[in-house]
Parts: sequence; C-alpha cells; structure tokens
Amino acid sequence: MVLLDHLTASASLPNGIVVRENAIEEEITALRDDLLRIRIARKGPLPEDASWAVLDDARHSSVAVTPETAEGHVGFRTRLLHVEIDRSTMALTIRDLNGNALQQDARPTRFEGGAFRLYKAFSHEEHFFGLGDKTGPLDRINQSFTLWNTDSYRFQESTDPLYKSIPFFMSYRAGRAIGVLLDNTWRSSFDFGKELPGVYSFGAVDGPVDYYVLYGPSPKQVVESYAWLTGKPPLPPLWTLGFQQSRYSYYPQSRVLEIADHLRADHIPADAIYLDIDYQEKNRPFTIDRERFPDFAGMIAKLKAEDFHVVAITDLHIAMLPGENYAPYDSGTAGDHFVKNPDGSIYTGRVWPGPSVFPDFVRAQTRTWWGTLYRDFYGMGVAGFWNDMNEPSVFDTVSRTIPENVIHRIDEPGFTRRTATHAEIHNVLGMENSRATFDGLKALNPNLRPFVLTRATYAGGQRYAATWTGDNSSSWNHLRMTTPMLENLGLSGFAFSGADVGGFAGTPTPELLTKWLEVAAFQPVDRDHSEKGTGDQEPWIGGPEQESIRRRFIEERYHLLPYLYTLAEETSRTGLPMVRPLFLEFPDAVPDRHPIDVDPEASSEFLLGRNLLIAPPHYPDELDHYAVEFPSPDWYDYWTGKKVPKPQEQSVANSPLPASATDRAPLFLQVHPELASLPVYVRAGSILPIAPVVQSVHETPRGPLTLRIYAGSACEGELYLDDGNSYAFQHGAYLRMKFTCEAAEEGFHLHVAAHEGSYAAWWKEIRAEVYGWTPRRNEISVNGRTKPLVAEGSSAATVFIVPDDVRGFDVELR
Ligand code: NOJ
Repeated sequence: MVLLDHLTASASLPNGIVVRENAIEEEITALRDDLLRIRIARKGPLPEDASWAVLDDARHSSVAVTPETAEGHVGFRTRLLHVEIDRSTMALTIRDLNGNALQQDARPTRFEGGAFRLYKAFSHEEHFFGLGDKTGPLDRINQSFTLWNTDSYRFQESTDPLYKSIPFFMSYRAGRAIGVLLDNTWRSSFDFGKELPGVYSFGAVDGPVDYYVLYGPSPKQVVESYAWLTGKPPLPPLWTLGFQQSRYSYYPQSRVLEIADHLRADHIPADAIYLDIDYQEKNRPFTIDRERFPDFAGMIAKLKAEDFHVVAITDLHIAMLPGENYAPYDSGTAGDHFVKNPDGSIYTGRVWPGPSVFPDFVRAQTRTWWGTLYRDFYGMGVAGFWNDMNEPSVFDTVSRTIPENVIHRIDEPGFTRRTATHAEIHNVLGMENSRATFDGLKALNPNLRPFVLTRATYAGGQRYAATWTGDNSSSWNHLRMTTPMLENLGLSGFAFSGADVGGFAGTPTPELLTKWLEVAAFQPVDRDHSEKGTGDQEPWIGGPEQESIRRRFIEERYHLLPYLYTLAEETSRTGLPMVRPLFLEFPDAVPDRHPIDVDPEASSEFLLGRNLLIAPPHYPDELDHYAVEFPSPDWYDYWTGKKVPKPQEQSVANSPLPASATDRAPLFLQVHPELASLPVYVRAGSILPIAPVVQSVHETPRGPLTLRIYAGSACEGELYLDDGNSYAFQHGAYLRMKFTCEAAEEGFHLHVAAHEGSYAAWWKEIRAEVYGWTPRRNEISVNGRTKPLVAEGSSAATVFIVPDDVRGFDVELR
C-alpha cells in the first residue's frame, strides 16, 4: 500500500499546476473558472487523455490561472476558486473566493495495486445527490454504492448495484453546491459518510484517477455545468411525451392491434405501443416471428394510420447461428464485430436467444455496422428502438455478465487503438450500444429525431437515449421509490426517464395502478409496462370507475403537452431536468438553506419544471391526512385555480402540520389523500400553456391555445413548438412565444411577445384564464382598443379570448 502525502516538486501551468511526490504526479487544471479537472498518476506519465463521458471540446477547454503560493501550500486561483495543495501532506483544498472550503482532502489518496480511493471531508450540514437512479432516499448521506452495470431483475430498495453507472454526484451545503464526476469506467464505489463519519470517498478498482469538480454555487449551475461537460439530451420527438403502452409481450399481431383499438375506443390518449422480445423469431434480435406476425409491415402501417408509434426491442446479444442465414450473425462475423476471449476465439454467452455473441461497441466501425441492422425496421416505419439487457446481461455465467477477462478492441477517434478487458469496458458498453443505435438511426434518416430507450448507461449517455429504471415491482413502495430515482437521474444528466408504470414484476391492485398512472402523468416518460405472466395492467383493467380516473390523468398530461414540450426543449438547451427536486429551484426555501426535499413533509414531492409542484402522499397508500410543504410562499391549486391559503387562514383542527407552519414560511397545507385525486400546485407568477385534449400528438388540437395565468410576482411563461419529429427546428422552423404579466389593484396586464421562428401555430385564438386577480370595471383593452369584458367560465378565473397576433400584443384588464 502506498500513501500519497509528501510534496517533492511543483510546477505552475498556464491553466493549473502539477505537483509531485516521488513517482506520484498530480495535475490540476482549470477548464473554466468554475470547473477543475484533477488527475493523478501513480507512476510514470498521466494516463491517456480520452473519455467516453466528457465531450472533447469541454475536456480541451482551459482558462488562464494565477499561481498562488504561501508558506504551507502551493496552488492557483481562477476568477472563482482558490486551489491549495498542502506542501507537507499534499492535501488538496478547493475554496470559493470567500475562503469557504468547497472540497477538502480528508486523508491521503490511497493506492492498492491498481485500485485507488480519494477521501474528502464534509460537515454535518452536507447533503449528497446524483449517481443516477440508485434506490433509497433522495439524499445519499450515510450510504455507499457500487457502480457496476447489473441486470437487477426485481430490484428492491436495498439492491445495489443496479443497471447504470453514472459516477457523478452533487454535494450541497447551505445553498452551496459542487458537482464531482469521477471519469473512470471500471467498477467504482462511492461512500457518503457510511464508512467514516464526516468523510466521503470514491474510488475504483483500476483505471485512471481522473475527476472533475464543478462549482455552482447554485445547484442549477452545477447541473448545467455537468451538461456542458458531458452533453445535453437531444430534443425528443413529441410523441415520446405522450402516453406509451407496453407489456412483455404483446403478441400475436392481432393482440397488438386489439390493444391499440381498445385505447382508441376507450378514448385514452396514447402515442406509442411497444413490442417486447416475443415479436422476434425465437428471441433473435432483428428477426420477425412470421407465425405470430404474418404481416408485420402491414401491422406497423395500420398502427401508423391510427396514429400509433411502434417501439421495438432490439437487444444487443446476437444469436450465435453460423450457417443459418441469420444476417446479424453473418455480417457481424464477416466484419469481425464481436468481443473475444483472451485466446482470440469469439466469446459466447447464453441470453434470450440461447448462445449469443456480443458486438464490440467500443469500435466505431462496429457501431456503424450495428446501425445498419435497423434499416429494414426503420424503413417499415418502426418509430423507436428499445436497447434492453445491455449491462450486458448474460444468463450462464456466475457474474451474470461477460467475464472480466474478455477482450474488447478500442478503435475510436480520440483514443489510442488498443485492447481492453471487459473489466474496463463493462460500464460503458450499454451507453455505446445506445449510441450505436442513435447514430445508426440518424444515418438512416438524417432528418428524423431518433428515439432510443436504454436500460444500461454511463455518464454522458443522455446524449443518445432516454432511460427507465428497469424491473421494478407492482407495490406501493415501488411507486414511492420512483420519485427520488427519477429526481437523482435528472440531477445526473438524464432528463428523459421513467419507471415501468404499474410496476414490472407482479400485478398491481386497481388502486395502485390508478395512483401510479396519476403520478406518472407528471413524469417525463409515461410508459405502462409489465412482466410476462402477470395480470394485465392496461388503463381499463379493474373496471370503468378506475379507468375513468386514469383517463382523466392521461388527458391532463395531453392538456399539458405544450408545457411538457417547452420543458423538453429547455432541457435540450440547458441540461436541466424535467422532474426536479424542490431545492434545485428553491435552494433558499428554508432559513438554514438545507434542501427542503429532505424534510419529511416534502419527501414525496417533486417539481415538473419550475412551475408545477406534485405532492403525492408520503406513503402513497396512506389513508391519513398529510402535510404538503411548499418551497415558497405563494401557490395555487392546479385543479381549482384557488390560492393555497396561508396557514392562519387554514382550518387547523386535527392538523398534522408542524408547529412551525403557522409562524414562518414555507407554507404548509393539510390535505386528505383520495384515490381519485392528486395534489398538484402551480407557482404564483406562472403562465402555463395548455392545449385541448387530443387522442395522439398527430391530431391537431381544435380550439384556442389556453394560457393559465397565475398572478404573482415576476409573472412569465413560455411556449415552444415545432413539427415534433424533424430537425427543421435547427433551421428556424419552430415557434417560440414569451408571455409576461403584471397584476396590480387597478389593472392586469398581459404581454404576448411576437412569434419567434417560422413554424405556424395550430391555434388562431388565445384563451386566457387569469387566476388570483379580479377586475373591478369589467373592461378589456387589446392593443389599446377597449370594450366590455364579458364574464365567462369558472368562478376562480377571469377568462377572455383574443385573436393571436404573430406580431405580439398587449391586453389590459380593469
Ligand atoms: C428485461 C426488461 O427490463 C423488461 O422491461 C423486458 O420486458 C424484458 N427484459 C423482456 O425483454
């Protein structure tokens, strides 16, 4: 064992510093004033400067720094950070300009063989988030995790590792956040004070010591910087934000059509239907079981005519079928695309199709070949592809995956061409599989935005695919677990994510399925999916009463599509997630600036974008009243448009509200859980764009665009729209509208800015619903032309309809 603790040399770099302790070299460079990269080599030069996660442009960015030395330390300063390395201990401290320590070595870096571990100090006020969809509470404090992509069928709350490895986390203390990305693909592990009180640590069994520290100070800035470093999720096709129906598996062909017809007949809006492995001949990827699907192309065409998009599964394992005219095997063998045993023979492992071989996705030419396998299916009109089992899952090995000594051949721009063991490549194989699919689809149809759903991935995988949380269970606890999983995925770059709605393993009770469909209506990917051998769980299962509640929520999602798509577009520009923990938007919610989400009252809540607060019961099957905690003082009930009353206005009989609720912000509200309703609130000052219900996004909404305006300070809203499918938006074919409002006693003012972009709106008129403000004189003037305001609609709102004007306009109410 070697301990790193003695400085023998140091040299300033234009963008950082290099320090040495005998054979050990540590380089700290500034990519930006708020973003540092730290690399340590145990002996010899620093390892190859290449990454699967970090974008080349980001990795090669640098800013000039000012050297700073003092008696006890060497280091430098950027415009935002001080970096100090203790001369005697080599301990690294990163501070903000006020001298607050943001990250500080707690003990020397530890090396053991190829393995390493870094130790950082933290205070009792610190909280940790990220690491993708690891289970458990939102805050990672007092827990430890292993990153090793694993097929975790029926995972439970304590299961670890899971399907994904996203070695990125955020540490957050009293309003100050930093992010840490350990860019190491080997089996790694993270410990947040579980092993050592007051110390968090991270390390890997081998590979480079290469990590990035991203300074906020706001948590939002950290998330945006992480997107700068590893990439943003692309703008998804609009239909993927619709309701999706799946099961393992719908077959034969007539059953698929029957499900589609049932959705349409029952007026349950839906946009996608999934084909799981049984559409294939003997589970062989890229084949069709012609007995079950005698007219596959005809089925796709028929579904398309009914406005359904079909997503087909294509697992990465290729059936080993020499001499059987199985094109993926034959062309893959001819192109030498499969991973090999150390003796040079092709590695085989048993998965769904039986003995299978595995494409070597770290070779650029293998990814290109993989992409070509989609030609026929994409040509037939299959709209999206599902990359499952890509941890990769293997059934007949003790490790349930490819053995660690199997050989990959890295052949990739930016990397040295070399072989690598599976131990190094394992955690990135799923991401590179989804990348091959995404790039392949783009190559096949450059003007269509691909949709890829992946189960396994690594940091940066958000550039290629949406994801889901894998094989959850049909239990109330799994519904509860979903929210922190999606929130932490969002903080780890993955904005487009969902969980199997209703649960994968097991059969949900009708009430569980109903509640799950309610909550999922407000999450990015709303896909009902279940396992083979379980009871049916389509929205109509359990009788008409349940179905009508579920329909109402799915319809609400479609009403909200303009808001959802506007959010998705924001995500594609900024990397900010759609589902957000409250502290991301409201870091100052509570006086001591702890993340409000860790309060028991707020623990089940989440935000959809900046404006919607969804507050399911803390335990979703609970029957007692519960308290909703708000992160700021002014909110409206989404369903009624009424203002959430201040604590002193509330009836507090039998109140479970905390004692503090009556004398300080934040606001609390007591609610009673009911199966048919879900508490949702809107931030005062929001303007929500709302559309008439459609049965699929293909249908043009009929009627005006509604703006729901919730009077409050800094009142504003936005809308983004385009054709929903193509890249024409990159050449100006989009529509962006911005809205602002001011509500004063004497009048209310709405400003609708000019349409930006060339995409034409589907509406001619705008219907505004103004909440939280009442006119005195019942007068309206549009661009200065005054007339009487005719009262209309619901009691909580003042409603008016005006023609939209692409040049923009102003409305005054008095
Ligand atoms: C495992 C996936 O997690 C699940 O969603 C899928 O239904 C089965 N594989 C069968 O393909």
